Amino acid sequence: MRKKIMLGNWKMNHTITTAREFVETLDDTIKLADRKNIVIGVCPTYLCLNTVRRRTPFSFVVGAQDVHYLESGAFTGSISIPMLKEVGIDWCLVGHSERRMYQGETNELCNKKIHALVNNEMTCVYCVGETLEQYEQGITKDVVKNQVVEGLKDVQAERLKYLVIAYEPVWSIGTGKNASKEIAEDVCKFIRDTLCELYNSEVAESISILYGGSVKPNNIHEYMTMADIDGALVGGASLKTDSFKELIENF
Ligand code: PGA
Repeated sequence: MRKKIMLGNWKMNHTITTAREFVETLDDTIKLADRKNIVIGVCPTYLCLNTVRRRTPFSFVVGAQDVHYLESGAFTGSISIPMLKEVGIDWCLVGHSERRMYQGETNELCNKKIHALVNNEMTCVYCVGETLEQYEQGITKDVVKNQVVEGLKDVQAERLKYLVIAYEPVWSIGTGKNASKEIAEDVCKFIRDTLCELYNSEVAESISILYGGSVKPNNIHEYMTMADIDGALVGGASLKTDSFKELIENF
């Protein structure tokens, strides 16, 4: 059975003080997620990781938003896997569209990060998705296939137990224009078919695929009714404890 997942991506939001306030009110939400068998968690900024990790039970996922693929070195501003592990972090986003857009991250760079993470037994949430222009040109599947194939180049099948894929159409992120459940399902199924081609059906069936992009408490459930969508990566609606809880209530 694939894991059901609801992961918040806090982006550049929350200070240590407000992150601490957020986790102080989480008890009921965590219990509810446990009862509903949903893996939940958040990806705070680096500065808040330690605070959130120390104040939440181990079942609550705390992930980084990015990582360098090397262990150490002259890379000003970067954080490495051993640094994350030291504070108990074992999940990390890779290739979020905002990093692809503003930091120029390529599929090739994502591939290096994915290798580094899965080889270090860290769960990698690999984000893929087309821009509005690509959507309008009708090349969504070409773009997403390329991202999946190049991102997973030479990653061994037995390492894929550490992989989660998040399909996030760029035109739906932070815009309030969420993709319909049919569009999201079509692309998530296409990703699963691509994984089947690259590996085999057993592997493809075992990987959780999330939808992300303007997911809110009032629309999360429609995605969860679709066969190939196993959860959600949520930005804006994950920032406040009330809506975070409602996402789990309505999952
Ligand atoms: P959003 O962000 O829910 O605010 O659209 C999603 C994401 O970027 O992961």
